[in-house]
Amino acid sequence: MTLVEPAAAIRGAIEVPGVKGICQRGVLLGAIADGESEIRGFGRAADTQSAIDIVRQLGVEVVDAGDEVVRVHGVGLRGLREPDEPLDCGNAGTVMRLAAGILAGQDGAFTLVGDESLSSRPQERIAVPLGALGARVETTDGHAPLTITGGTLEPIRHELPVASAQVKSAVLLAGLFASAGPTVVIEPAVTRDHTERMLTAMGARVAREPGVVSVWPVGRLRPLSIDVPGDISSAAPFIAAATVLADSELHIRGVNVNATRTGFLDVVERMGGRIAVYNRRSLGGEPVADLEVRHAELVATDIGAKEVPLLIDELPLFCLLASMARGDSIVRGAADLRAKETDRIETTTDALRALGAHIKATDDGFHVRGVPARLRGGTVDSRGDHRIAMLGAVAGLASREGVELLDAESVAVSFPGFFDLLDSLRTAPTPA
Ligand code: S3P
Repeated sequence: MTLVEPAAAIRGAIEVPGVKGICQRGVLLGAIADGESEIRGFGRAADTQSAIDIVRQLGVEVVDAGDEVVRVHGVGLRGLREPDEPLDCGNAGTVMRLAAGILAGQDGAFTLVGDESLSSRPQERIAVPLGALGARVETTDGHAPLTITGGTLEPIRHELPVASAQVKSAVLLAGLFASAGPTVVIEPAVTRDHTERMLTAMGARVAREPGVVSVWPVGRLRPLSIDVPGDISSAAPFIAAATVLADSELHIRGVNVNATRTGFLDVVERMGGRIAVYNRRSLGGEPVADLEVRHAELVATDIGAKEVPLLIDELPLFCLLASMARGDSIVRGAADLRAKETDRIETTTDALRALGAHIKATDDGFHVRGVPARLRGGTVDSRGDHRIAMLGAVAGLASREGVELLDAESVAVSFPGFFDLLDSLRTAPTPA
């Protein structure tokens, strides 16, 4: 159990680990490039390590060339080797789904497994389109373990039933191996585009129109050499804390501000938050900026289906802010939160209610009645979900009595240094 005491403010200047999804993609795509890729600013965490572990099992040499530098010796587009053991993706949905897309184009049969949480998440969403491309994908009742037998792939046109960058990416990656092009993915709402950017940088032909992405088969992929910017999902707990704690002033340097990821910034600003985005530049093929966050009084807002993917992993933190804002906030069109590391509609609602917030789960989101005051405090069980652990920690800072956090270690899935960084910024309340 970890006790998170109330704080008066958070103050300081920080950087956060490199974008998890770019690190994972860098390893997976680097594995099938021709030659050596270098990924700098690599965010070390359980989820990024899962990507390294599975490509090693597939016969790819990965060198840890420093704390934040990883070199991947790519074996070429079709060079992955059938492993002796199942490929363990741990907790990482992105690794399982993107690897499935790549393996659909390899010779051999590959079994992907995950931990208990990942094994309960839906995989039909990739099995169906990869099967349509021509791979054989056997799931266990729609879940992992899943076995992919690569085949001769034909291009498809696939309309995503749920807005998911992971599924979009799996289909696009398999499309690289198709006999002809293009393979086309139609999205109901814009989702993160890291895969499209990275494939383009590696020499693949990718065409993009609003809501439609197409990819053509390639003969080879150029290796990557990238500097990974800070992950906005790892910055978000700090942004939330600085926003709700009076006297806070926080600088976060080098954050990825890709427009497909910045929904949380837009929503917090709409609520009255004070976030300055400055020093905009480009790094590793992605837009980057520094952020300055100050305390603000918040008002309620609503979030709908089109906006949801732009802050999908930050919705638990949004609910915390909404519960401390003036007025009622509603989130709709977020049913896919039930298919994350936990059912985040349930785990977010349970966590915040236990601390005194007025929040109700709906089928596809939340209804939050805001009270502009500190939460009472209490106990939060992360249930092994890193984002819920970080939610509980920020709520603890912003509470009157503190939060007892169970399974706080789950932050290591995306951000092992989270608590040390948070502790380095907090200022204690003045004793009464
Ligand atoms: C991710 C996409 C999102 C997100 C996940 C990472 C990615 O999942 O929740 O944490 O790296 O593509 P979906 O695409 O399934 O919504």
